[in-house]
Amino acid sequence: MKKPYSIRMRASRRGAHVSGAERIAEVGDVNDIVPQLLSRAFARSTEPDEVVVRCEKIAPHAMARLDSLDVVTLDCFDVPGCRSAAIRILESTGVPSSVAAAAVDLLASGASSSGRVMRGAAIMDIANGNRLEPDQERGVRASRFDWSYDAGAEAEHRLAAAGLNHYRTREALALATKIAHAPGTVAELCWSDDPEYTAGYVASRAAGYVRLPFMKRNSDPLGGRVIFFDAARGDLEQCIRYLQHAAVLIHTACKCLGPMSAEEYFDVRKRT
Ligand code: COA
Ligand code: AMP
Repeated sequence: MKKPYSIRMRASRRGAHVSGAERIAEVGDVNDIVPQLLSRAFARSTEPDEVVVRCEKIAPHAMARLDSLDVVTLDCFDVPGCRSAAIRILESTGVPSSVAAAAVDLLASGASSSGRVMRGAAIMDIANGNRLEPDQERGVRASRFDWSYDAGAEAEHRLAAAGLNHYRTREALALATKIAHAPGTVAELCWSDDPEYTAGYVASRAAGYVRLPFMKRNSDPLGGRVIFFDAARGDLEQCIRYLQHAAVLIHTACKCLGPMSAEEYFDVRKRT
């Protein structure tokens, strides 16, 4: 891209967040992207009373290009099974199982200091499970990322062929790819706070994006993200700066595998 812009939308009702989405596009395409993001703002069952769209120029030389994480879906159909698979996968990336289990409990019980959903991700020290994000209500929000036009189209095609048609998967995969490349990041755990959306994932550069269909029960309004951080591998301030501000374009599409059992997944990883 010669003249890229970050275009970000957030919709709220009575001050409460309703939805948000973002893109990176060439200046000439901003006119087309803004109405698409506005449609997203009004597509939810909650009608927003305020929608803010912000367009910001990005320096083209400052934009990092990343390969997408590959996607694998586990064929696990109950919440305890998906959560214990998540803990095993996190353990395989270097997160101690006690810290992984603490992260699952944290998201299940409301990760903000007031026991509600956070506005961004928690950051957890893998050495002791301590919280490292400066504000436990807000957390840290990854922003300024997108697929390149070609990789985005190819990723959408491959995800759809694997039965993953929901736009959330494509967007969560882009977000997870950015997070996986943050300095000091070991892995990420996520499930949505949308009561109707039960899927979640564990992601890391080593594990890929491992989709777990039932990280919570239907109609549960809690969810969130935990980023596992290793101080031996990176600086926390640099990590937070990268997550919030570094512009990232994902320029290769994901491979998609599965559905498969956790055992099959670990076998595949051993062989590759
Ligand atoms: N939950 C609650 N409040 C949120 C929010 C969220 N997810 N995102 C934004 N807000 C509100 C907060 O009040 C925030 O203030 P804060 O910084 O004190 O928390 C305020 O909006 C401004 O947020 P900011 O991030 O500065 O706005 P922005 O216009 O730069 O970007 C988003 C907004 C939503 C596009 C961006 O934060 C984001 O999350 N991008 C990723 C979107 C995405 O692809 N998600 C994948 C989901 S599967
Ligand atoms: P969602 O996948 O949009 O349902 O978001 C799930 C949770 O992830 C939210 O409850 C927030 O805690 C957190 N979150 C939302 N947006 C971001 C972001 N941009 N970066 C990091 N964490 C986020």
